[in-house]
Parts: sequence; structure tokens; C-alpha cells
Amino acid sequence: MNYKLIDMKVFGDDRGHLVSFEKKVNCPFDVKRAFYIFDTKPGVARGAHANRNSEFLLISINGSCKVKIDNGKKQEVVELNNPQRALYLDKMLWKEMYDFSYNAILLVLASTYYDEKEYIRDYDEFLAGVSR
Ligand code: TYD
Repeated sequence: MNYKLIDMKVFGDDRGHLVSFEKKVNCPFDVKRAFYIFDTKPGVARGAHANRNSEFLLISINGSCKVKIDNGKKQEVVELNNPQRALYLDKMLWKEMYDFSYNAILLVLASTYYDEKEYIRDYDEFLAGVSR
């Protein structure tokens, strides 16, 4: 599976903690875009798509959620509940985020500018794409 969990270096002192993402230091790609998902309603799943070109880093900066990752052959579930841990997702993975806790904030860093054309929102189209 083309994903990995990355434990971030935490700069901490008696004031609290800080995590930094920087190209060539600890970030696997050049970040072109960031967005965050918050105020997610109970029972909601987000995502349910694959991206032809984008790589992502997902960080649960508050609360928790689960991420189902599917490469077309198998599925795995990762729980994100720690702002010190980032989930790297390669392109062409089907992902779904769900079980958001109350007040969950999921930060997403992306390797691309937003382009709806690189999204695959039909699961059968995704399966056809990965088996090629
Ligand atoms: P959507 O793809 O439905 O989010 P999710 O990944 O949770 O399913 O995106 C919701 C809306 O936000 C949709 O109108 C597209 C827009 N959007 C942007 O404009 N830029 C972005 O970087 C993202 C991720 C979404």
C-alpha cells in the first residue's frame, strides 16, 4: 500500500509544542495547497475519491478520524488522533475519511493545485485505472 505514517519531530518546551513541515526536511513533496476539514457532522464520510496526480499529507490537528485507504486490491483503515503523526497518501489511492470526533480538525497538505479533473469520484473508474 502506498501510504505511510510519519512521526513528526516535535519542538517542545515549557511553553508547549510546535510541529513544522518543510520541503526537503520532512515533507515528501512540494506543498502547493492546504485545506482543513472541520465541523464535520456526526455520521458523515468525506472523500470517497481518488486523485490521479495528487499526493497528500493528512494530520489530525484536533480530535480524531479514521481514514479508509484502498489501492484497488486491498483496504486498510488508519486512525488519526495525534497532531504529531502525519499520514502520507500517494496518488491513485481511494480514500474515505469518517468517524470524525466532535471538534475534529483534519489538516490536509497537497502536492498539487486544486483541479477537479484529476479527481476520480466513480469507484469502478478507479478500479479500471489501477488495473491498467
Ligand atoms: P470535496 O472534494 O467534496 O471534499 P471531500 O474531499 O471532503 O469530499 O470538496 C468540497 C468542495 O470544496 C468542492 O466544491 C470543491 C471544493 N474544494 C476546493 O475548491 N479546493 C480544494 O482544495 C478542495 C479539497 C475542495
